[in-house]
Amino acid sequence: MCGIVGYIGDRPAYPILIQGLKQLEYRGYDSAGVSLLGEGMSVFKKKGKVSELENHIGNKKLLATAGMGHTRWATHGEPNDINAHPHVSNNGHLVLIHNGIIENYAVLREALTREGYTFTSETDTEVFLNLIEAYQNKEKLSLADALSMALSQVVGAYAIVVADDRNPDVIVAARKQSPLVVGMGNDEYFIGSDATPIVRHTNKVIYLKDNEIAILDRNEGVTIKDSKNVVQKPHIEEISLRIEELEKGGYEHFMLKEIHQQPQTVSDCMRGRLNNQEGWVKLGGMEEYGGLFENAERIILAGCGTSWHAGLIGEYLFEDLARIPVEVEYASELRYRNPVIREGDIVMAISQSGETADTLAALEHVKGKGAMIYGVVNAVGSSIARLTDAGSYIHSGPEIGVASTKAFTGQVTLLSMAALWLGKRRGTISSSRYRTLISALARIPEQIAETLKVEDQIKYIASEMTAYNNSLYLGRGYNFPVALEGALKLKEISYIHAEGYPAAEMKHGPIALIDENMPVVVVATNQSAYDKILNNIQEVKARKGTVIAIVSNGAKEISKFADHVIEIPETAEPFSPLLSVIPTQLLSYHIASLRGCNVDQPRNLAKSVTVE
Ligand code: M6R
Repeated sequence: MCGIVGYIGDRPAYPILIQGLKQLEYRGYDSAGVSLLGEGMSVFKKKGKVSELENHIGNKKLLATAGMGHTRWATHGEPNDINAHPHVSNNGHLVLIHNGIIENYAVLREALTREGYTFTSETDTEVFLNLIEAYQNKEKLSLADALSMALSQVVGAYAIVVADDRNPDVIVAARKQSPLVVGMGNDEYFIGSDATPIVRHTNKVIYLKDNEIAILDRNEGVTIKDSKNVVQKPHIEEISLRIEELEKGGYEHFMLKEIHQQPQTVSDCMRGRLNNQEGWVKLGGMEEYGGLFENAERIILAGCGTSWHAGLIGEYLFEDLARIPVEVEYASELRYRNPVIREGDIVMAISQSGETADTLAALEHVKGKGAMIYGVVNAVGSSIARLTDAGSYIHSGPEIGVASTKAFTGQVTLLSMAALWLGKRRGTISSSRYRTLISALARIPEQIAETLKVEDQIKYIASEMTAYNNSLYLGRGYNFPVALEGALKLKEISYIHAEGYPAAEMKHGPIALIDENMPVVVVATNQSAYDKILNNIQEVKARKGTVIAIVSNGAKEISKFADHVIEIPETAEPFSPLLSVIPTQLLSYHIASLRGCNVDQPRNLAKSVTVE
């Protein structure tokens, strides 16, 4: 949550910061602010989006060559101008932006109040900032040392950038459980909560590690210190992110672009890992731990939101193809349980951002209990990618829309390859089925492209669905998680209440909701449970519900009962979610768009949930 950008160099900082904030807006959009350091310090902040901050600043001449910017996803204190970052300390010299939560801020606030400190906002950030000031005042410390002392007093997760207008040649940053990236330009340095605001200036970056402090000095360059104040040798990496990847490319929204990118992103995920002609699939990270995977007693898949749904499909895949027992865990629950984890278990963490606080914490929680930890991650170099023992990137490219689409199909593609590889290695899948499934998986990108052609029909269905306030999504087997995912997508971007259910569970409760005001989306591409789904559809129709059925081409029977039938290409059942999810993504997108919702930045949400 919250986007952070900082700059120090010889160019005017403001355009760099504002451009960076626009790039980071997907991380939070409750308020935005910048601070510039040159002769003195100036701070501008405004509730709402970066564009509102820009309007507020207007044509002011801002030539300072150092500064920081923040886009906020509110945790402590409502979104308003006062709670917006940056915050300024009591003596007016320190300025700070922060991502994360200082859990013990109430105690610190009390202690500081007793010392005479006052607070204008309700934020934990302002408390922390004044703690730094207090250390500076009491112990006459440099900014970096005062920050280090203050950090030793706080409990929580943070990424922080702080500066002192009495020394505008230095910006200091620190992180714990919240990402920070330092960009290394030519005599200019950047800081970002991810690489997106940095990439147009330099591709050389340092990913700060937990508890490290970075000192960006205009004259002396970048120094990294650990929590014991020991200077670290920085590991400078080259990133391959391209600016075009961060732009909408002619689409109205990032989400729509990302939906349409899926033929390419799924193909990218398979590149070098699946060879249809030669009939093999392999994943480097898994091969490295081949013995462990082969003899695994259990696989635990952990994630949140859409990534958790991908995990549910992983459960079907691993059990079906590799015959290994699987458990799927909400990371947010796993982290607070006392789970039984043994040697021989494999914990697979699924995350687009690689920064989700709950998933990271769940991994920390199980680490050291004997299981091997494997990451299925999109964001290269992210915290989860670095915490795991091994892993596979899904190679979906930056996903900017808050609603996850291409990352979901990337995750499911990766898990499909993993299950196939493991099934072959464990001898739980016949050679002919292995071969057939490889061919089926290889065809998925072109079949996604084919599936996307239903968009016009979906626009029409969407125009009918905008009027409803509720909807139900049903699916069975491999497509039950698609029902959950379809419902999540609809509610998060259109604010229509939606629930996903295994179709057979409908008659155990939700059927009571069905009447002429309840559209029901039925994912009915399964070959195995086709007749049963047909029954479920009839049960809905008998109660006057409107049925929108997603079926494989030629499913004639269902069209007799459903109000709308969306036909998509047929594939092998284990991979059917990769196709059936596409119409659900398009449906949510078009309903939300027709309802005038902010599709890419739905209310109350942020792209990466780096707080609990
Ligand atoms: O980055 P992650 O995959 O770890 O994120 C997990 C969830 O926060 C995420 O999938 C969320 O549910 C999306 N907004 C769903 O579209």
